Order: sequence, then structure tokens, then C-alpha cells
Amino acid sequence: MHKPDDSRLDLPLANEAAAIDFAVRLAQSITPGMVVYLQGDLGAGKTTLVRALLHALGHTGRVKSPTYTLLEQYEAAGLHLRHFDLYRFRDEEEWEAAGFRDEFDGHNVCLVEWPEKAQGLIPQADVEIVLEILPSGRNLTIRANTETGRKCLSVLQR
Ligand SMILES: Nc1ncnc2c1ncn2[C@@H]1O[C@H](COP(=O)(O)OP(=O)(O)O)[C@@H](O)[C@H]1O
Ligand SMILES: [Mg+2]
Repeated sequence: MHKPDDSRLDLPLANEAAAIDFAVRLAQSITPGMVVYLQGDLGAGKTTLVRALLHALGHTGRVKSPTYTLLEQYEAAGLHLRHFDLYRFRDEEEWEAAGFRDEFDGHNVCLVEWPEKAQGLIPQADVEIVLEILPSGRNLTIRANTETGRKCLSVLQR
């Protein structure tokens, strides 16, 4: 007998509409303080997912990719959300100077593209989402690393 794996979920996303559907479900499983990594090549759909998630939470304005600003902030559904894109993050001093450390305060929901660029500085993820580009569509893998992450996954699997 196999115990169902409660720490990992594999989902094919045939198109952008499927990614948006997933984001709507993810929105229901987000809790304050969660750290979510979004990994995958340029164009894999990380920002698309964050944008759909914010809209699912009720944000009605624009969601710009924080490519140059590295960080954009939102409030929606009573959550304080932080969207990072660390692709252009270089300097470790920048982490302190920009006040990024303080953003991971156990209260803000931190959604982080390119977390690997801040290895050793950024806190562990509760949930890691990996997007893989397929000839058609994407494959999404979501993995829980903490108890908070496992709770999020169990809500997603309902
Ligand atoms: N599941 C999907 N299947 C096919 N195309 C997708 C999917 N998700 C997003 N896309 C498209 O791929 C591109 C992804 O861009 P973006 O979200 O900015 O990627 P990233 O932030 O990972 O660099 C967009 O043009 C979007 O329309
Ligand atoms: Mg992006």
C-alpha cells in the first residue's frame, strides 16, 4: 500500500487558462507568512501565476513584473503580499540595504521568482513551485517543505 505523497503535487498545465485555474485554487490555500518560491526558465510562467493569484485574491489593478524594481507590494484578501523577482539581484549588501530581510517577517506572503539568486540570504520556502516548459504547455510541480506548506498542499488536493 502506498501512502499518498502529501508533500508533492505534479500538474500538467496545457495552456495559460489552466495556469489561471491553478492560481485560483492556490489563492484558497495561501496563509499569512507563507514563503513561496517560483522556479523555472525565463518565460516559464512564474509571473503569469503570480498575476493570476493576485487577481484571484481580489486585486484589481495592474501586476507589473518586478524585473527592475525587484519587489512589488500588494494588499488583497486581508493579506500583505510581496512579489519579488530576483533575476537581477546581485549584491548581498543589497539584501540588507533594500530591507528585504525585513519583508520575510512571518506575516507577509512572499512570492519569489529566481530565489536561487539570493541563496544563503533568503529564508526557506514553505512551498516551491517549479514550472517546466514543454513543447505544448507547462508542467508544474509543487513541493511542500514545512508544516505550513503541507497544509497548503492538503487544501490544494481537496
Ligand atoms: N501554462 C502555460 N501554458 C502555455 N503558455 C503559458 C502558460 N503559462 C504562461 N504562459 C505564457 O508564457 C509566458 C510566460 O511569461 P511569464 O509569466 O512572464 O514567465 P516568467 O515570469 O517565468 O519569466 C507568457 O507569454 C504566458 O502567456
Ligand atoms: Mg517573471
